[in-house]
Amino acid sequence: MTDKLKQLSPAILTLDDKNYSLPTLIGIEGEKAIDISKLRSQSSYVTLDEGYGNTASCESAITYIDGEKGILRYRGYPIEELAENSRFVEVAYLLLNGELPNSRQLLEFSTNLNESSIIPEDMHHFFNGFPRGSHPMGILATMVASLSTFYPIPDRLDTVTEQQIVINLISQVRTIAAFSYKKSIGEPLVYPSYKLKYVRNFLNMMFSSPVRDYQLDEDIVRAIDMFLILHADHEQNCSTSSVRTAGSSMANVYAVASAGISALWGPRHGGANQQVIQMLEQIHADGGDGTEFINQAKDKNSPSRLMGFGHRVYKNFDPRAMVLKKQCDKLFAKAGVSDPLFDIARKLEEIALKDDYFISRKLYPNVDFYSGLILRAAGIPTNMYTVLFAIGRMPGWLAHWREMLHSEQVIITRPRQIYVGEPLRHYQNIEQRP
Ligand code: ACO
Repeated sequence: MTDKLKQLSPAILTLDDKNYSLPTLIGIEGEKAIDISKLRSQSSYVTLDEGYGNTASCESAITYIDGEKGILRYRGYPIEELAENSRFVEVAYLLLNGELPNSRQLLEFSTNLNESSIIPEDMHHFFNGFPRGSHPMGILATMVASLSTFYPIPDRLDTVTEQQIVINLISQVRTIAAFSYKKSIGEPLVYPSYKLKYVRNFLNMMFSSPVRDYQLDEDIVRAIDMFLILHADHEQNCSTSSVRTAGSSMANVYAVASAGISALWGPRHGGANQQVIQMLEQIHADGGDGTEFINQAKDKNSPSRLMGFGHRVYKNFDPRAMVLKKQCDKLFAKAGVSDPLFDIARKLEEIALKDDYFISRKLYPNVDFYSGLILRAAGIPTNMYTVLFAIGRMPGWLAHWREMLHSEQVIITRPRQIYVGEPLRHYQNIEQRP
């Protein structure tokens, strides 16, 4: 336990007529916790908390969220201020190092990212092995894990190697993402350019070709940069917890990052942005205004949910959704830019925010509700949306991996369970079985 946590008076828990004194703690933003780490050894009781909704799995100084108040801060800075004033590379530096960089530090970080953006040439062959139509998240997870074979990690990690790992992953995840897209459409790979900064470089690798220059639109570059900032970290979400869990075994960090990508893929996590657009497209194709879809989402007998609504932590509003909605308003107000799906999204939001089903369950638009519209405006294909999320989240995953690695004691993640299977029984020969 670090000295950032202050002790409060202990909680007394009575179990089987015996009292147990449990330390209670308070974090710097007033979050209170009961330390139950010794409860089992003292009393033989474990705590049950499916999905860990009420469990703090670690101490962390990276990101602060107050889901009730709709607050998100990276290293103390409100997300709204970072989205408005900062750029993704600067935010990545902040998450990893704890402070905003000065000009020299930013230039050095940005140059390192640029110089590390080329993936090993031999990896290019791997892209040919994937079947046509493979989901880019499957390719991304595989390719990121395969970086471990190109960059062996010494048993004792020194500062320089650790820094290079972080730089490689943040830079190369973007190259792999763009290459997997180019492969999927049968176009030649476009190498990263030393002349272009992070987002511009990515868009250029995605959309230029030897016979076609890509004209970078400043508003799109800014919107994608903002998208990446808003996705850069979100404390102990499903994928970050997966990174910490895999990392706690001291596994190779490229494989650890791949675990994060795999966890992110699911429709209840990072995959939701793709599902939002598919939902909006379906509503558009059916010609409705969304009322019918909302009714289905409310129906207990239907598996459908209003994608992009609800959040495990935000029970008021998701501040990232507010920023993105504003950015969408700006983007679609531009002359000649429109998207009928944006109108449907606005209508759905309007209906849902007045509907008692969503109000009583505290279901509000989450970051994914508007993010897909931004990516669509940039020409990013739907099956690449979660890949973009992964690019954004990479600095967050690595900041958590690093924080864990440098904590006083790296404890392997190993939750308990409550067994509900068969009691002891004995092996029967096959002839005796019913
Ligand atoms: N549409 C309709 N009903 C919903 C929705 C939704 N999007 N989300 C939750 N509910 C309902 C549930 O059916 C449940 O109803 P009940 O109490 O009558 O049984 C109640 O609200 C609570 O639902 P839970 O799943 O327990 O809520 P939880 O906080 O665990 O889940 C989650 C959060 C997974 C995000 C959920 O809201 C969801 O599936 N949303 C749609 C998918 C989505 O947008 N995911 C992106 C999350 S953000 C991110 O990962 C970056």
